[in-house]
Amino acid sequence: MKLDLKHKNLVLTGFMGTGKTETGLILARSTGRRFVDSDKLVEEKTGKSVAGIFKESGEVYFRDLESKALKSLDRCKAGSLVISTGGGAVIREQNRMLLRKKGIIINLTARVEDIISRTSEAGSRPLLDVANPGEKIAELLEERKEAYGDCDISIDTTGLSPLEVSEKILELLKDY
Ligand code: S3P
Repeated sequence: MKLDLKHKNLVLTGFMGTGKTETGLILARSTGRRFVDSDKLVEEKTGKSVAGIFKESGEVYFRDLESKALKSLDRCKAGSLVISTGGGAVIREQNRMLLRKKGIIINLTARVEDIISRTSEAGSRPLLDVANPGEKIAELLEERKEAYGDCDISIDTTGLSPLEVSEKILELLKDY
């Protein structure tokens, strides 16, 4: 890893079910950085689950908490973190700008079929708690195309384990 990358956080973005958390944990371990997950930060701060917040207070309220959580990370030393973001964190441009200031943005992608099977656990993803999750996923992916595309590195996780994805990221970062 080149010197200036040492001073950059590794930020994982991408849709639900693309493996940001598992990959982030491995990356953090192998690079000696602290792992943080924006959903977990929101849950710790409020004492409520993400699904509970969506249900009680709605998406906009959740997005405000998410933005605040990301902002709180700005106080940490640049280069000390691997940040896994919630799938919708990059919708707001202000969040993307903030993450980019101190981080290298790595977007994970996956096929809709893989996303469906990885997110099928009932109740954990409020936005996909609908009659036709496949249709909703395709709709959200389309809506968020530009936001996800605003990244430094994009990795297709199809057929790869989180360990393989993290190895691929480290390989790409070498000649970054
Ligand atoms: C969301 C993704 C979720 C969580 C919330 C909303 C989204 O995080 O933040 O349910 O809008 O894509 P994961 O991507 O970690 O599942």
